[in-house]
Amino acid sequence: MGVTAGTSPKGIDMTSDQLANLSLAEQASLTSGGTAWTTKAVRDVVRALRLSDGPHGLRRPQDGSLLSASVPATCFPPAVTSGSTWDPELVRRIGAAVAREASALGVDVVLGPGINIKRSPLCGRNFEYFSEDPHVSAVMGAALVDGVQSLGIGACVKHFAVNNQETDRMRVSADVDERTLRELYLPAFEHIVRETRPYTVMAAYNRINGVYASENRWLLTQVLRQEWGFDGLVMSDWGAVNDRVAALAAGLDLQMPPDGTDRQVTAAVEEGRLDRAAVTAAAARVLRLQERVDRARRFDDWDVDAHHELAREAARAGAILLKNDDGLLPIDPAARLKVAVVGEFARTPRYQGHGSSRVTPTRLDNAWDALRRAAGPELELTFSPGFALTGPPDARLAEEAVAHAAEADVVLLFLGLPEESETEGQDRTDIDLPRCQVELLRSVAAACRKVAVVLANGAVVSVSEWQDDAQAVLEGWLGGQAGGAALADLLFGAHSPSGKLTESIPLRLQDVPSYLHFPGQDGHTVHGEGRYVGYRYYDTLDVPVAYPFGHGLSYTTFSYGDLQVEQTGENAWTIRATVTNTGSRHGEEVVQLYVAFDEPHPTRPRHELRGFAKLALEPGASARAEFRLTGRDLAWYSTKRGGWRIDPGTFTVEVGASSRDIRLRGELSTPGDGIADELTGASSLGEWLDHPVGGKLLRERLTAHPGAVKLDDVDPLVLSAVAQIPLAKFTGPVLGLTAEAITALAAAAQAR
Ligand code: BGC
Repeated sequence: MGVTAGTSPKGIDMTSDQLANLSLAEQASLTSGGTAWTTKAVRDVVRALRLSDGPHGLRRPQDGSLLSASVPATCFPPAVTSGSTWDPELVRRIGAAVAREASALGVDVVLGPGINIKRSPLCGRNFEYFSEDPHVSAVMGAALVDGVQSLGIGACVKHFAVNNQETDRMRVSADVDERTLRELYLPAFEHIVRETRPYTVMAAYNRINGVYASENRWLLTQVLRQEWGFDGLVMSDWGAVNDRVAALAAGLDLQMPPDGTDRQVTAAVEEGRLDRAAVTAAAARVLRLQERVDRARRFDDWDVDAHHELAREAARAGAILLKNDDGLLPIDPAARLKVAVVGEFARTPRYQGHGSSRVTPTRLDNAWDALRRAAGPELELTFSPGFALTGPPDARLAEEAVAHAAEADVVLLFLGLPEESETEGQDRTDIDLPRCQVELLRSVAAACRKVAVVLANGAVVSVSEWQDDAQAVLEGWLGGQAGGAALADLLFGAHSPSGKLTESIPLRLQDVPSYLHFPGQDGHTVHGEGRYVGYRYYDTLDVPVAYPFGHGLSYTTFSYGDLQVEQTGENAWTIRATVTNTGSRHGEEVVQLYVAFDEPHPTRPRHELRGFAKLALEPGASARAEFRLTGRDLAWYSTKRGGWRIDPGTFTVEVGASSRDIRLRGELSTPGDGIADELTGASSLGEWLDHPVGGKLLRERLTAHPGAVKLDDVDPLVLSAVAQIPLAKFTGPVLGLTAEAITALAAAAQAR
């Protein structure tokens, strides 16, 4: 008996002429690429589709080879920065711009967004991902897909799933319990699949609970297609397939890049080891992808300046003002001041990470040039590199910087991570800035009291050791090709910072919940921290952090008020709150909605983000933030039930400026989902008694027994002591219960 591929792909007529025209060998050939960056053409029936990275700009290789250099394209800020904007409309525009460039460069599918959860700040690819939180990842990822596909170009949601580390990434098994998968690692994929219908999904390199993602039938067919209704194509990450036949049987349609194993597929069908329908279904999905992208709007070019401006807008909106004591920032460019710009990053920006997402930019701004351009005639600017980006620490550079600082009224100190510490294929081992930079800050701060640190890094760095030496810290992340100009916009106050953290900044690496498990050993990375990743852990256990999830300051201030919780249907609510700009400058505020679960002993995170809105407000102006909640926002995944479960009760609704700055609290009540668990002999006495029908039936049965036991008369202490005993243990003459009677009671309870 061969393995089967399950259902036929939706929307595809399996007897279509095109498909029927193809021999088994031709169909099999469609299920692997033609070159490293294209699918295969078959006669004049199917053309080769071009696939290019992604996600924050196009890496369209100059030729078909795997490691070829790429042609210039706009380098938008990577997801760490665009995610920190909390502005899906902006990310949607980036998606549309990337699609326009894809179209002009003959690309059919953009390999992004990457929406893996930032489980640990050490992950070498965190710069490519949006958040430690699935809601942020879902909304921002969906926006990118929407934008790309608005022009008919395909998006590719990756890396499906639980690809949260680079160490041993092609073999490691992410060992995760199902509830954690359903509540943390899968929801962003689920949301994007359900809401935006991405053309493609990329199966990750790693294994999940022992089974390669690319060969995981549960993941690729049961969850992705059958539960979520995915109607697109699943391709492998580059080199992620280990067993071609098993992958096809599991629901993987396209192996990338090709490895010359198409013959294995036809042989497996001929020998009855693989259902031919699996091959036909995969080939049909390749045809369907072509059908979809052939409807794309095609352009010959794009507006290079406009895309550069969009990149600048995104970099500006994604930078986060972590601290700003005594309002050190912004600096008035028209003032009579001496400003020392220190740090090589001001002149040589770090603007993206390393690896497959690396874009050849169309141009590159740096902050030093941009600051000089924007400075008024009275502002005196000096520059000193302070440190070199490569080689050993250079005392001479540090001395020169300190001398400049001693002469200055204010120092803008550009610090950051070296390029090699943030790359695909490798995780970090610490979260510290290079020692020479921390020492430079110390010396500069001793020479000048007013120091603003500007950071360039794609994943969290620890600030605890040094931030007291800085009056202000602006986290610029990796700003893309226009990041330098964006930083000047913020430092000189042309715009107010409005980014917020999509990941917590811990005090120490040791505080990170996955610290003892990451990156694992012996081919396994046990997700022992479960659902308690990021603020889900810190806030549940009140662990102090340097900066909490959702934090970010502005040059203005905001007040919150007038919370309204309106029930709009069964398990449906609208939450509204008014936010007012109480300062004297224009600003934008990211208003966050959390649902909190107050339990004596936590069985779930203390609160979870369920909505956010970014409001732009003039001084004195107010606006209403509005959020919708559904039953799913209160639900948890019950493995016993094999589905989501809403418990009856009262939940707290929190509206705030960060996960630790909750400004408003309200309540909502739900009767639950009304679904009672199925009863069996293994169900405990307590579960039987709590069951809306089973409890009554059991009571009646016990009362009818000759030795009549009335449970309501039993001492409550006794009853609670035995409540956890499975009902099957009570069989025997005393209560007159038999296994058959329990089965009959269970069936009767189920029937009503
Ligand atoms: C990466 C993917 C990328 C692919 C093609 C892989 O190594 O994991 O994110 O899309 O290469 O470059």
